[in-house]
Amino acid sequence: MKVPDLQKLIDKIEEVVPLPSVAMRIINYIDDPDAEISQLAKLISMDQALTTEVLKLANSAYYGFPRRVSTISEAVVILGFSTTRSVVWSVILSSTLKKPVLGYALPEGALWRHSVAVAVGSKLILQHANVKGVNMEEAFVAGLIHDIGKLLLATYVAGAYEEIVKVIAEGKTFDEAERQVLGYDHAIVGSMAAEKWNLPNIYVDAIKYHHRPNETDNLMAKVVHLADYIAYSMGWGSEGLEGLNYTLDESVLEELGIAPEEIDVLFNETLDQAELFLSSIG
Ligand SMILES: [Fe+2]
Ligand SMILES: [Fe+2]
Repeated sequence: MKVPDLQKLIDKIEEVVPLPSVAMRIINYIDDPDAEISQLAKLISMDQALTTEVLKLANSAYYGFPRRVSTISEAVVILGFSTTRSVVWSVILSSTLKKPVLGYALPEGALWRHSVAVAVGSKLILQHANVKGVNMEEAFVAGLIHDIGKLLLATYVAGAYEEIVKVIAEGKTFDEAERQVLGYDHAIVGSMAAEKWNLPNIYVDAIKYHHRPNETDNLMAKVVHLADYIAYSMGWGSEGLEGLNYTLDESVLEELGIAPEEIDVLFNETLDQAELFLSSIG
């Protein structure tokens, strides 16, 4: 199968991951340092479905606020900018990420569960780690979108499935097999999608290096890598090919200040919190 060049592939992002224009404006606005709460609330209110879902999630057990939040402006004030960003991303991506991903052998719901586990896990890692300069909610978003490139590459992985499986059987990791057979991997494709959405560089690099954390100084990539490993250990997403031969780059533990014994704790917390998040968003 002929694999398109990267730029052509990325041009399809709007078809594969449709982000309504209001959603697009919101996610770019949230990362603007001059953004104002009232303006953000106004933008969210422009979309009725988004408003309903954001309120539902703001009132959920996962966020656990003691009193009922009934308006969007209240929700944005109580959640704060960072958490509102996570909530908005979760709402706008849930239906796309829930679809089965042909080629990666991911049945309906599997990529969504995996992405939620990595998002929640990334946030928990930062609660345990001694890391400066990485915002927990930004890491949540990076975790949520880290495998977005799979949606764009799926058809081509399907076309080269046997070849990829053969390379994995030789002991290579999944992303190595993608690069060897297709010329690039889902992490590179995903990082280009983040660029196309004008997301800040910290996300672009976190996605690009989530399988090769030793090739970057970006600590968010290291956080997402560890959360990815934990999600696979939980079995969330391991229906697909990526879980095969997945190894943790242990150097990230030292860089993040996480003791190997803490992984078990993180595993249990991620499992609980990811279940809670999924039951909150429905
Ligand atoms: Fe990945
Ligand atoms: Fe992953």
